[in-house]
Amino acid sequence: MNFRFEIIMEYLPFLLEGMLLTLLMSVVGVLVGCILGFFIALGKMSKQAIIRIPFVWYINFLRGTPLLVQLFLFHYAVLPTVLGDTTAVTSVIVTLSLNSSAYVAEIFRAGLQSIDKGQAEAAHSLGMRKFQVMRYVLLPQAFKRSIPPLGNEFIVLLKDSSLGAMIAAPELLYWGRAAAGQYYVFWEPYLAVAVGYLILTLSLTYLLNYLERRFDVK
Ligand code: ARG
Repeated sequence: MNFRFEIIMEYLPFLLEGMLLTLLMSVVGVLVGCILGFFIALGKMSKQAIIRIPFVWYINFLRGTPLLVQLFLFHYAVLPTVLGDTTAVTSVIVTLSLNSSAYVAEIFRAGLQSIDKGQAEAAHSLGMRKFQVMRYVLLPQAFKRSIPPLGNEFIVLLKDSSLGAMIAAPELLYWGRAAAGQYYVFWEPYLAVAVGYLILTLSLTYLLNYLERRFDVK
């Protein structure tokens, strides 16, 4: 086998652009996922069934169906109907955000419920209101405990953004497939794509380790 390095060189600018889009889509996905996920976690923790049940089923649906199926559903059905039109990148970002929000909601819920009940009771007995207990006692601790699983979520989402290639979003895997299709070679493009993802996930791992030290997660 002769490894045709020049194919990688030819596609390098596109692969790099693809890496950038991969990173961008997953950063937006995880950020929107965190914001939505926070409210969904609160909704799912509601004592009133009428509020709780829609959130439970939101999470059930997004965790219980494959991400690829969700991507097709949003790209070909939901978004064209709701927005009138969509682009592949929009569809990937929307789908990743919603999918991630379900997983993040469970991360936050676990974080909040892991704080000992006595703390909320003590805060209440000091005269704090429900909102203050949440804001000053529970959230700071729950947030800290959520950092490691959130980091994990980010890495999973970054890798799963490769499903975007299935609807021709020009991210990293898309360009690898383009090179493979043009030259009918497979080692070169798919190894390059794998290395691209590895660079992204390893950089993220280092960044997350730094954050964990910075926030003193134990
Ligand atoms: N790849 C799996 C799927 O197709 C898992 C998706 C996980 N998503 C996440 N945001 N953690 O359903």
